[in-house]
Amino acid sequence: MLSGKTILIGITGGIAAYKICELIRKFKKNGASVKVVATPNALNFVTKLTLQNLSQNEVYVQEFDVKNWKPEHISLADESDIMLIAPATANTISKIAQGVADNLLTSIACAFSKKMIIAPAMNCNMWNNPVIQENISKLRNLGVEFLEPDSGFLACGYIGKGRLCSIEKIYSAVVEALNYSKILEGKKVVVTSGGTIEDIDPVRYISNYSSGKMGFAIAKVAKDMGANVVLITTKDFTAPFKIVKVKSAIDMQNALDQEFENSDIVVMAAAVADYRVKNYSEQKMKKTSEDTLILELVKNPDILKGLCDKKTSQIVVGFCAESENLLENAKEKIQKKGCDFLVANDISRKDIGFSSDDNEVTILDKNGNLKRIEKASKTVIARKILEYINE
Ligand code: C5P
Repeated sequence: MLSGKTILIGITGGIAAYKICELIRKFKKNGASVKVVATPNALNFVTKLTLQNLSQNEVYVQEFDVKNWKPEHISLADESDIMLIAPATANTISKIAQGVADNLLTSIACAFSKKMIIAPAMNCNMWNNPVIQENISKLRNLGVEFLEPDSGFLACGYIGKGRLCSIEKIYSAVVEALNYSKILEGKKVVVTSGGTIEDIDPVRYISNYSSGKMGFAIAKVAKDMGANVVLITTKDFTAPFKIVKVKSAIDMQNALDQEFENSDIVVMAAAVADYRVKNYSEQKMKKTSEDTLILELVKNPDILKGLCDKKTSQIVVGFCAESENLLENAKEKIQKKGCDFLVANDISRKDIGFSSDDNEVTILDKNGNLKRIEKASKTVIARKILEYINE
């Protein structure tokens, strides 16, 4: 699965460093070439000899162990397809975020322009420190993928968020990232995500449970596939592509109008409210002596249908969330909306959809073909959707 790929693993000085030995074995077993660069502190937790034996390669620690005409921090960066830093301490993350290059690992990170994945591990108070979070956010905005630590018992005796995430999760994230081909290079992909918020008065609104995660995963994967991405969302995300934050269905429609014309692919993963309040109250509505309150609602524009009516060469993809008769409803909907593809989600299942990190979907096209995508992480589902619609 990984043959022909070179994975550069940066190990920093945290107790979770010992877990990376297993990960190196797994990469090697699956055919990857593994290069390890460790900070001097990492060697307090795991020996150079162990890492050398497992990776079947030299382990690099010092900056000035120059072996060829190119300095190590440049040649290791050039030779590798991906850089993974695991475990990543607060110290190393912060140095990379500030462009500090004071050891071989941070120098390589500074010179690395391909995909980088960081799996942090630290004490929960360090993780929650706003300075660390700001540094993480800065790197995220620059395209670094973070694998959030798990919560639980920490080596320092605390219970909280800070444990290195599972080795399986790190392994899958690296495999997933290496398998991307740049099929969307030169294309503009516009994605919507999250539930729209329809105000009733200054303090109340109507919305839905959509987390925005599916649309965000599609935007991220499209970016990794080389697209120029615009995410129009009601949620707070940070990412290395243009994000337009909107609130209501009308806002979303206006934002889409700005981006639609020169786009190549539009994916409407947002859960747009079908109705909004007819008469928004400028003042907070008062409780009355009545036992019931009637809010009058008016229909929101069907944004997806509107785009399909005016589309030229764009590929337009809709989503539908159904709690019953998934495929029958989806078949009817794709005809009604006129989109090229419709991704059908079964929201009656508790293990997938809405706030979950997983999903399972069926993609319909307008000729009546069905493509089922088995349960997987939203990132994997996103990749399969984008590959399928781009075939
Ligand atoms: O009609 P329904 O809400 O089931 O259709 C879902 C699809 O239509 C989604 O892609 C959603 O983003 C889009 N939609 C829309 N405008 C609406 C309602 C839904 O674009 N008012």
